[in-house]
Amino acid sequence: MTNKKWTISLAVLFFLFLYVLIQFVVSTQKIEKTVEQLRQTVHSSPALPHFVLISQELDNLYWREIERGAKEAAKHYHVNVEYIGPLRTNMDEQMKLLEKAIASRVDGIIVQSLNDVRFTPLINKAMAQGIPVITIDTDAPLSRRLSYVGTNNLEAGKLLGQAVISRVNGKKKIGVIIGSDMSANQNLRLEGFRSVIAQNPLLSIAAIASSNISRIQASIQTEKMLRAHPDISVMVGTSALDAIGILMATKNLKRKDVQIFGFDNVTETLQAIRQGQIVATIIQQPYDMGYSAVELMVKHLSGQHIEKEHFTAIKIVDKTNVQQEGTE
Ligand code: BGC
Repeated sequence: MTNKKWTISLAVLFFLFLYVLIQFVVSTQKIEKTVEQLRQTVHSSPALPHFVLISQELDNLYWREIERGAKEAAKHYHVNVEYIGPLRTNMDEQMKLLEKAIASRVDGIIVQSLNDVRFTPLINKAMAQGIPVITIDTDAPLSRRLSYVGTNNLEAGKLLGQAVISRVNGKKKIGVIIGSDMSANQNLRLEGFRSVIAQNPLLSIAAIASSNISRIQASIQTEKMLRAHPDISVMVGTSALDAIGILMATKNLKRKDVQIFGFDNVTETLQAIRQGQIVATIIQQPYDMGYSAVELMVKHLSGQHIEKEHFTAIKIVDKTNVQQEGTE
């Protein structure tokens, strides 16, 4: 009898153990299946294509507008755009950011190629590694970049010259503030401007200085220039914050007679045009540049042909049409 009891107890224990074991095996299999499913989901929905947009100065109002266009296109085409740039314009830092983007093997690079000689080897390096590059705002035409998106800077310089010629009277000396003599786009604008002014015997360029794209520097350089050349009565600026800096200087020097011409549509420039303190500005299309650059990169990656040059519009804005311009 005692033996029988023992046998029954052992049998019960055995079946209990068997039950627990089966449960364990079944749930382990379930977990493995779930993990495998998760693995497959991760592999079948790869991360969005990652583009990097590199500017000469991160917080510059003009560049923030390019970023806005690029991010809007990114939303539309389901890609990621990472916008980067040095805090203050610095070519070496900007080139390091380009190197980093190449090293991290991003899916596309959109870069302001500040200086042909220095940027071309890096752009070619990226292309050789299969990373497509589009230049924006400033081109490196001899590089192997896919396309350039932005203003035709030589033409923009000429337009600035025409804006001056048709708005000043008589014999005048001109002072020029350029963003930087190292930047390809600034040099092209200066070349275009010079070529038009040279055709007018009443106008001559008396001095040229660089603002390093800072409004404070534009102001300091203008003060120096106007003190050294008091006969200058027309000032032009060829990068986005120059005209505002020039205006600060003419106010300090109480030179209300100086006619100011600038570049771009930053809010303060447009306001000063409305108030009659700046005569005219050449407007570029930074938002369109950002949008189109991303769009072209997406087209390229989907196998479509893209043009080598994609020029965005430019126009003269003065007090006659400034009301139609939104502010940045
Ligand atoms: C130029 C940019 C530059 C910016 C600086 C613009 O007019 O197109 O190259 O970075 O001015 O404020």
